[in-house]
Formats: sequence, C-alpha cells, structure tokens
Amino acid sequence: MDLRPAADDDLPALHGVFLRAVAGVFRPHGFEPPAPRYEAFANQQRHLLATGTTVVAEQEREVRGFGSSWQRDAHWFLGSLFVEPGAQAVGLGTALLDAVWGDAAHRRTITDAIQPVSNALYGRRGLVPSTPLLAFSGRPRRIAAPVEPIDADLAAIDAAAYGFDRAVDHAYWERHARRTTWPGAYSYAFPGGEIGPVAGLDSDAAAQALAAELARAEGEVRVRIPGSARALVEVALRAGLRLGPVPGLLLLSEGLLPPHALAISGYMLF
Ligand SMILES: CC(C)(COP(=O)(O)OP(=O)(O)OC[C@H]1O[C@@H](n2cnc3c(N)ncnc32)[C@H](O)[C@@H]1OP(=O)(O)O)[C@@H](O)C(=O)NCCC(=O)NCCS
Repeated sequence: MDLRPAADDDLPALHGVFLRAVAGVFRPHGFEPPAPRYEAFANQQRHLLATGTTVVAEQEREVRGFGSSWQRDAHWFLGSLFVEPGAQAVGLGTALLDAVWGDAAHRRTITDAIQPVSNALYGRRGLVPSTPLLAFSGRPRRIAAPVEPIDADLAAIDAAAYGFDRAVDHAYWERHARRTTWPGAYSYAFPGGEIGPVAGLDSDAAAQALAAELARAEGEVRVRIPGSARALVEVALRAGLRLGPVPGLLLLSEGLLPPHALAISGYMLF
C-alpha cells in the first residue's frame, strides 16, 4: 500500500470511497447513509486540497482510502478518514491518520456516534467525545425574526464561537453560500437549504441569527447544532425542525471546551 498526497484528479475516487465507507457504517443499523452529490463533496474536498493536507492510500494504482486534515493557527481538525470496506481493519486508517496528524497544540474532529472504530481510534490519541451534534431538518415554522442584518466583525465572532481564525474558510463559504451578518453574529445559507455555520459573539447573538435565518427560509433546511449550544437547539425545536436519527460527536483534545454559540458548517469543515 502506498501513501501519497491527493490531487484534483483523485476527487471522483475519493467520493466513491466516501460513499461506500459511510454506507458500511449506516446500513447495518438500518439507517440511510449521507450521500452528498459529487459537486458538493468535491467543492469541500478541493478547499481542503488548497488549505489543508489530504493523503490517499493506493494499492495497484487504485485508491483504497484517504484522510484530510486542516490547521488554522494552532488548531487542527481531522476533516475525513475513510477506508474502502474491503480494506478496513488492517492498519490503513491508522497509517492515513499518522500521515495527516501534523503538529498542533489543539485538535478536534467529528464522528458518527454509531461508529465505534473511529471513536476508539481518536480516543486513544486524546480526542474524546465532548458533545453530540444534532442534525435538524425540515421546513421551519414561521417564527418572528428577532434581528435585522447589520455589519459585524467576523474575526471577533470566530474568536468567540470557534476559538480560532477562519478567514480562509470565509473565502470558501462566501463563494458557495449567502452570508448575512447580524448583531454580533453571522450566518451562511446554501442554495440547497443547508444552513451553517451560524456563529455569534455569545449564545444569544448566535441563536437570534439562527432564528432570523430560519424566519426567511423558503423551503426545507438542514442545520447541525452541538448539544452544548443549547440556545440554538432551542431555536431549532421552536421552529419545528425534526431531529435526525444519527447524531454526530464532537471530539476535542484536552483543555478545549465545546462550543456554545455555533451551528457548524459540516463534518469536514466544522
Ligand atoms: C474508521 C476507519 C477509517 C478506520 O480505518 P481502518 O483501516 O479500518 O482502521 P485500522 O485498521 O488502522 O485501526 C482500527 C483500530 O480500531 C480498533 N477497533 C476496532 N473496533 C473497535 C472497538 N469497537 N473498540 C475499540 N477499538 C476498536 C482496532 O482494533 C484497530 O486498532 P489496532 O490496530 O490497535 O488493533 C475505517 O474503519 C472506515 O473507513 N470506516 C468507515 C467510515 C468511517 O466511519 N470513517 C470515520 C469517519 S469519522
């Protein structure tokens, strides 16, 4: 098995590995696996090729697995680790994780709660589940918009909500989604109905931004909220959104606290 940096040409193969690996986690439990369209997957993965580290594992020139991580300041995030079902449990995931591990003081990743293998793999390296990630979807009930758009300081909000700078990611989100700034908060809404990230200087500001974003939604939306961000969970429930059956888990290295003023962008970009 050879490890090498991923290139743009690999993206269709990475998408295939992703779909088969994730189906292997969800289907045995009777859950429908996430199945992002190629373009949506490739857009995010391309952003990681440009701003992070992606490594593929190859056997006889066939991609059998891949891992991606990114680092902003001293903060590292594992965006993907997927191994072809027929190639699992022989050390490939561990080798890919080593290859994208880097050298960072603080680490985070997101897993599926029903996946013991990855949760144990990361747990042994000090990344421990600290809060569930709840997936809400549906057509929001009309709730009053509590705030109007107004300028806001993205860097200050990121420092409060994420704990690190996200300038390069705003460039990506801005290309694919509509950004709105609210008093002490910002939100992104994607054309397909995905909402997030929604981030605030504090939990009230983030919750009001989420409420305002939901109030103007025209159709079905999807938003992922950490359980630790209680005020945002309450907004999603008040708007009548439905909770999906498989929560994610946010894993944190020692000393990091779970977010309280954030609905995340997604599992790859946090
Ligand atoms: C998670 C994944 C990437 C791991 O890759 P892999 O090549 O199968 O993993 P490895 O063989 O390197 O290591 C797995 C380790 O988990 C251990 N493990 C397996 N099941 C376990 C369990 N229930 N509890 C604790 N440890 C467990 C294995 O013993 C092994 O450790 P060891 O090498 O010290 O014996 C791969 O299984 C996969 O792609 N799964 C489907 C997609 C997915 O869930 N990806 C993770 C997204 S967060």
